[in-house]
Amino acid sequence: MSETPESIAPPVRGTIRTIMRILPFVRPALPRIVLGMVAAMLAALVSLVIPIVLQSLVDGPLSQRDGTQIWPAALAVLVLGVFEAALIYARRQFVLTPGTHVEAALRNTLYKKLQDLPVAFHDRWQSGQLLSRSMSDVGLIRRWLAFGIVLLVVNIATVLVGFVVLFFWSWMLALVFVACSVPLWIYGFVFENKYSVVARRSQDQQGDLATAVEESVHGIRVLKAFGRGRHSLEKFARQAEELRGTEIEKARAIAGIWLWLLLVPDVAFALCLLGGVWLASTDQMTVGQLFAFFATATILRWPIESIGFLLSMTFDTRTAIDRLFEVLDEDNPIIDPEHPKHIDHPVGRLTFDDAHFRYQDSSVQFPDILDGIRLELEPGETMALVGLTGSGKTTMTALATRLYDVTGGAIRLDGVDIRDLTREELRRHIAMAFEDATLFSASVRDNVLLGRPELAGGGPDADAVLAEALDIAQADFVFELPEGAETKVGEEGLSLSGGQRQRLALARAVAAKPAVLVLDDPLSALDVDTEARVEAALRRVLATTTALVVAHRPSTVQLADRVALLENGRITAVGTHSELLATNDHYRFVISSLDDDRQTEAEEVNA
Ligand SMILES: Nc1ncnc2c1ncn2[C@@H]1O[C@H](COP(=O)(O)OP(=O)(O)OP(=O)(O)O)[C@@H](O)[C@H]1O
Ligand SMILES: [Mg+2]
Repeated sequence: MSETPESIAPPVRGTIRTIMRILPFVRPALPRIVLGMVAAMLAALVSLVIPIVLQSLVDGPLSQRDGTQIWPAALAVLVLGVFEAALIYARRQFVLTPGTHVEAALRNTLYKKLQDLPVAFHDRWQSGQLLSRSMSDVGLIRRWLAFGIVLLVVNIATVLVGFVVLFFWSWMLALVFVACSVPLWIYGFVFENKYSVVARRSQDQQGDLATAVEESVHGIRVLKAFGRGRHSLEKFARQAEELRGTEIEKARAIAGIWLWLLLVPDVAFALCLLGGVWLASTDQMTVGQLFAFFATATILRWPIESIGFLLSMTFDTRTAIDRLFEVLDEDNPIIDPEHPKHIDHPVGRLTFDDAHFRYQDSSVQFPDILDGIRLELEPGETMALVGLTGSGKTTMTALATRLYDVTGGAIRLDGVDIRDLTREELRRHIAMAFEDATLFSASVRDNVLLGRPELAGGGPDADAVLAEALDIAQADFVFELPEGAETKVGEEGLSLSGGQRQRLALARAVAAKPAVLVLDDPLSALDVDTEARVEAALRRVLATTTALVVAHRPSTVQLADRVALLENGRITAVGTHSELLATNDHYRFVISSLDDDRQTEAEEVNA
């Protein structure tokens, strides 16, 4: 995979340089593409030979009215025609498969890169843009490889060879013909500049449109509940209209070059016809030569015409490659160390050592969210993290698994800086459950055992881990699902309630059997009774596992051995719940605000 952070060329220049960037992906397919080009070139040459036979036919047997010589000439034309058809068939066979291999390789590389890139990247990029890049842009590149580039090279070569042949028939007529096509080449250059800008805009707008569809499908409940369907439709229609405008602009640009491509050969034909008749009538040229000249010029018509759309396809492809490499060139600051350390049997001492953090974006300057966090979790200890909403609790938990990297200081596991571990090892030792539980389109079993790839095959071990995790998370509702733990959930499967999803996410974190468990308010959607049962079960797990639990409810706080208070980006107090209640004003304030939430929730439940 290309990791070069080389900047993207400005949209108007450097088409060839941009296209060369996919060479590493194309290399395995290159022999077949070149063979395809050779076959196409041979076919073009064969077609250019046919007028030579015709010329000898017209000037020989036909003008001497010698019927016996016509058959061999006709046979020669037939053989050449069959040969040409066979070569065209061969070209298609050669170029059919390589494009699909390149497409698959590009798409896999992009997917791998998207998986690898940090959360900060996904914060910045719209999912629709990524979707359109991995689908339509990659598809465009395949089509271009399968015939765009082959035909472009071959047709340009055919036109050049054809011009030479025209000169051979009559240099005067050929000069007229070539001179007529000069405006065409000039227009081609103008076209490149204009078209590539519009092509880029069109592809970006397609990405925006994909984002709009994705968001509205994702948020369909909210839109419906707030009666915003019409508004969202109007917004979508506006975006679609913008795209339509761009497409029309694109079509106009293409229509412009088509006008020239159709007009120029016709003008050239008319002028050549006038000149040719004069040359033949004054015996400067035989009728056979005139005939062959026009036969050749006719053969060149399609290659000349096709160059326009092949060029526009090439510029579209170049834009697609640009868009693809914008993602592939993206730097990933969260990488594995060169010489990773190992912790074979972690005891689970988690230390925040003067950890600083600020969200980063090239366009916006964010303030420091965490401003020197100092906190040490003893092995086996459960630490609750409490703070006002927006104080940075979620941010702090995300740092522990390197979803983001600290911008200063360090986080250590058993004394080892977590940046010195491979990400794979780190995530084996530290597991997370989030408040908004995401389930994948897979069975309950696969969702829960996500962090234990070695158990993916099933078997008694997998069953035991699954049963234990479901038990701890109080997820016994699973057994009432139509197919138990094999029921498909997630977007393609059965819809679960918020609390059910949270319990599965919790089970997933527990099943990973990590040394450190980081829970970002994973019980918020549960009712009071269920929460109490989950907590009792968690207590069993937490006795042997170090846990950092973000708490929004007093009952969650009481689960903890100690509580850390997050205030203005720092941990301002650590102690037991009762100690802090007795000594810390801010803690009392935070807890009382939590209490309020709790009361309203309880009232809602009772109502
Ligand atoms: N991806 C992001 N980019 C920029 N700023 C962010 C991002 N995520 C969170 N923030 C900001 O960071 C601050 C802390 O957010 P965080 O989610 O950590 O708070 P929290 O303590 O978990 O809040 P809550 O109790 O509501 O869950 C907030 O001001 C938020 O606006
Ligand atoms: Mg949060």
